[in-house]
Amino acid sequence: MAEVSITPTENGPYKVTGPVELIDPDGNPINAPGQTVFLCRCGGSTNKPFCDGTHSKIGFQGAMRAVEAAEES
Ligand code: FES
Repeated sequence: MAEVSITPTENGPYKVTGPVELIDPDGNPINAPGQTVFLCRCGGSTNKPFCDGTHSKIGFQGAMRAVEAAEES
């Protein structure tokens, strides 16, 4: 198993597990709690890059599901 894994959750954030370093656009480190972080992929979090649960309120649909649904049509 890889040291770091990134798993898209069902219609939610990316779950990132392992020893990663988060860096902001200016090159500054972002303090991340622990070895597992949940990164927003809906764009709605007010605590980016972390998920704050907003994806549930806005009805975010994960792209992987959308692509699969489109291919079935
Ligand atoms: S994925 Fe959870 S707030 Fe964006």
